[in-house]
Amino acid sequence: MDLLIVGSGFFGLTIAERAAAAGRKVTVIDRRHHIGGNAFSENEAQTGIEVHRYGAHLFHTSNATVWEYVNRFTQFTDYVHRVYTNHKGVVYPLPINLATINQFFQAAYSPADARALVNELAGEFDAKSAANLEEKAIALIGRPLYEAFIRDYTAKQWQTDPKDLPAEVISRLPVRYNYDNRYFNDTWEGLPVDGYTAWLERMADHANIEVKLDTDFFDAAQPLNKAATVGQVPIVYTGPVDRYFDFAEGELGWRTLDFEEEVVDVADFQGTSVMNYADADVPYTRIHEFKHFHPERADRYPAEKTVIMREYSRFAGRDDEPYYPVNTPEDRARLLAYRDLSKGEADVHFGGRLGTYQYLDMHMAIGAALSMWNNTLR
Ligand code: FDA
Repeated sequence: MDLLIVGSGFFGLTIAERAAAAGRKVTVIDRRHHIGGNAFSENEAQTGIEVHRYGAHLFHTSNATVWEYVNRFTQFTDYVHRVYTNHKGVVYPLPINLATINQFFQAAYSPADARALVNELAGEFDAKSAANLEEKAIALIGRPLYEAFIRDYTAKQWQTDPKDLPAEVISRLPVRYNYDNRYFNDTWEGLPVDGYTAWLERMADHANIEVKLDTDFFDAAQPLNKAATVGQVPIVYTGPVDRYFDFAEGELGWRTLDFEEEVVDVADFQGTSVMNYADADVPYTRIHEFKHFHPERADRYPAEKTVIMREYSRFAGRDDEPYYPVNTPEDRARLLAYRDLSKGEADVHFGGRLGTYQYLDMHMAIGAALSMWNNTLR
């Protein structure tokens, strides 16, 4: 073995694929029973509808190198992501755009009218001196839109009143002064035609790559554990950086999500793939309906059944799946301490969202892995 990779998510598999193509013998271990990390998807047993097991995953990128690379393993559908939100029983388009504003104010503002109105409403606070998230958000979009679309949703995401969240949690709140409600601004967007898992399996499909599942790097009982391998073979580690160092500098904070899946006996539950719930009286943040990610599969999916998934957000404990870095000033200080410790590890390369304590979209994880391969490992 020339290289050990801990974690079979997009970061680990990209390194594995590049190394194998360059003639290296690679072993990838993952503690889960499946490959692919958080992008893993599988067909729901009763309906055959593809469900993204760790939350909805939409591929999008403006990075030409990444786009060329991912197209070696899968084709993409022409799916374009759009999100709607339910506020007080009325559905509005997101991100906040001219349709949202005109529907909310029951008006027919022109782009210039709407911009002037939002600027006037935003004058209540100064973004630079905002003391908390609430003041910052009001300084960006004004109180009415903030209270309708941001306040309670943010409180549900963070289980914290936005008045008690730091202003830095948001840097900007995009408002579009036109009717464009495409969620992503990227050059390329789509979903893998035959699903995420087929794509991920093709990346690992090489004679030089061996994948071992249900194998935890910190389990001393399995031969490729930390004590047995560090210093013996180059390692790419994509698990949590604090866990690697046995939490010596303290735990890094994460938010996690709980998913509640349901098969419903209707052809179409909500008419779209993602519906947010903006208000405090609904405990979940959003509902995903997976059928709508693949309208081109209509003839293969059941006509009178659909799969929905309600999503709840909360702070993660040590045994929960870490999803979004909380990133408090204490977390950032700990991360710096872990980075210093990482420098002392002989030939261990920390990567991916858990290894670097960063939210990374898929194209960013793949791009970062290609850079690590080209600049360091090759
Ligand atoms: P990833 O977490 O995928 O893989 C790490 C792997 O390491 C896991 O398989 C884990 O089991 C393994 N591991 C950890 N510790 C180990 C140990 N001790 N021993 C062995 N294995 C170990 N992106 C995007 O572009 N569009 C989107 O719509 C979304 N949506 C989205 C929703 C939600 C809820 C989340 C949390 C994330 C997204 N993402 C996303 C981001 C996407 O999930 C992310 O880019 C990839 O998961 C990054 O891949 P990594 O390989 O870095 O980590």
